[in-house]
Amino acid sequence: MEPAAGHRNALAVAFDLYGTLLDLAPLAAVCDRLAPGRGAELSARWRARQLEYSWLRAAMGTWADFWQVTAEALAAVCAELGIATDGPALAAVRDAWLRLPPRDGVAEALEALAASRRPLLVLSNATTRMLGTSLQAAGLGRWFDQLLSTDAVRTFKPAPAVYALAADALRLPPERIGFVTANAWDAAGATAFGFSVAWLRPTPGSPFPRLGVPTPVATDWADIPRLFGTE
Ligand code: LAC
Repeated sequence: MEPAAGHRNALAVAFDLYGTLLDLAPLAAVCDRLAPGRGAELSARWRARQLEYSWLRAAMGTWADFWQVTAEALAAVCAELGIATDGPALAAVRDAWLRLPPRDGVAEALEALAASRRPLLVLSNATTRMLGTSLQAAGLGRWFDQLLSTDAVRTFKPAPAVYALAADALRLPPERIGFVTANAWDAAGATAFGFSVAWLRPTPGSPFPRLGVPTPVATDWADIPRLFGTE
């Protein structure tokens, strides 16, 4: 697909963290140590429950930080699946969330984008502490000018107040901000807010949610620099 003008004209680019910059796939092997043979199911359900709890807390106005949400989701899923575990084993799995590797192609794309001298940001549900720890562990911290956590607004994506954090920090209108995410629901929220969104579509057949929002440009990490007009 040809780059859209909105992406080329973006004056800054913000990124989602989990599943976008960082690869969630290694969680399956970590969870397998807790529940042999069921690691893939456990890790997938953990992520789904983590997001569900974040959406519910945002809707209910009962914010708790994303580390607490992440821990509560893991404990809930272990209970649902009947996985008997003790506190230290649970903590070891939970801490693996803070040491995820970058996805393939991320470092190359960030290097190309940084050469265009645009500010690069991370905009994530992660707490400020999670952002720092995760990005340092992945070796990606040096690329970013700002790390924006939803801690500041005490709600979660896709609440517009979260995307407004980036617009406010950059003092730019939403349409001059690029946003990259692999999470379709996040891509929908960012598109609704007005960002020029690049959706890292998991597979060519992955559907976009029917939420009354136009489908954003679907792409992959290898094509991100070209999409934003840097090569
Ligand atoms: C984030 C999650 C939702 O980083 O992927 O905000």
